Amino acid sequence: MHDDLPAALAETADAVAAYIDRTIAASATASARLARAMRHATLGGGKRLRPFLVVESAALFGVARAAALPAAAALECVHCYSLAHDDLPAMDNDDLRRGQPTVHRAYDEATAILAGDALLTLAFEILGGEETDPDPAVRAALVLGLARAAGADGMVGGQMLDLAAEGRFDGGRQPGLGIEDIRRMQGLKTGALLRFGCEAGARLGRASAAEHAALAAYSAAIGTAFQIADDLLDVEGEAGTVGKAVGKDAAAGKATFVGLLGLEGARHALSRLVEEAEAALAPFGSRATRLAKAARFIAERQN
Ligand code: IPE
Ligand code: IPE
Ligand code: MG
Ligand code: MG
Ligand code: MG
Repeated sequence: MHDDLPAALAETADAVAAYIDRTIAASATASARLARAMRHATLGGGKRLRPFLVVESAALFGVARAAALPAAAALECVHCYSLAHDDLPAMDNDDLRRGQPTVHRAYDEATAILAGDALLTLAFEILGGEETDPDPAVRAALVLGLARAAGADGMVGGQMLDLAAEGRFDGGRQPGLGIEDIRRMQGLKTGALLRFGCEAGARLGRASAAEHAALAAYSAAIGTAFQIADDLLDVEGEAGTVGKAVGKDAAAGKATFVGLLGLEGARHALSRLVEEAEAALAPFGSRATRLAKAARFIAERQN
């Protein structure tokens, strides 16, 4: 394995794409159109950060990438489903994702909804399978962990709060979120899946309670950093580089750190979070160099 981050990210990204490709081929046979839409949602782009967190957290404990791949791919399937649904007209109404037409633009809304549903379900099919871990208790813990991270008290709950903050419900009333409310909303909509990435790696690696806690602190910091960077890119990025439309958050009246703290305040928060993430990795010493680099990458990314 390479020591530099872009090469390591690319290697994991390729391995995860190949795994998802094989899995869709084997398990989505009823409808060729559905399988194509699932491929569209999952393959051909994406930084694969969440799988990278699974692989690298597991690697802290000597778990080989190949052994961490099923859990990593399952998490990416949930992420890609969340994007396909996030882009729907009923939600963020976006036409461009990873530099390609969004799933409902390439196919149609019903197919995009079903492809998302199928990817969510596929994730649990993968996690429950023996390839994920030989120990059924570890598999059960992973299934529970991903269910919690993805559901009403995780990503889906955060998406609901995100839309509520736009004033979509309650007769258009915007709740006027403060910094702690935004932190909580983002911790759910984006943070929960990122946190699960590290949790999964720790479980595959049979981490101790203290090691679980260290990775939880790291992933909480990068989770917030990740969404601040996403919000900054929406303000400062260019669609060509970012691979999705920009300038949409303010137009939609989304509640973001950038909206509340301004660009400078958000950048300041971002560098504090990177330091926090690095500090959390101290117990792992030089074994965690790559995760430390990932924290910086998440904060400084351009797409
Ligand atoms: C984008 O996630 C959506 C958010 C959760 C903010 P990523 O920036 O990880 O998207 P891809 O997977 O690389 O396309
Ligand atoms: C999406 O957040 C988060 C999830 C899909 C759970 P955003 O709506 O900010 O993501 P982008 O900017 O469309 O990628
Ligand atoms: Mg959204
Ligand atoms: Mg969106
Ligand atoms: Mg965004």
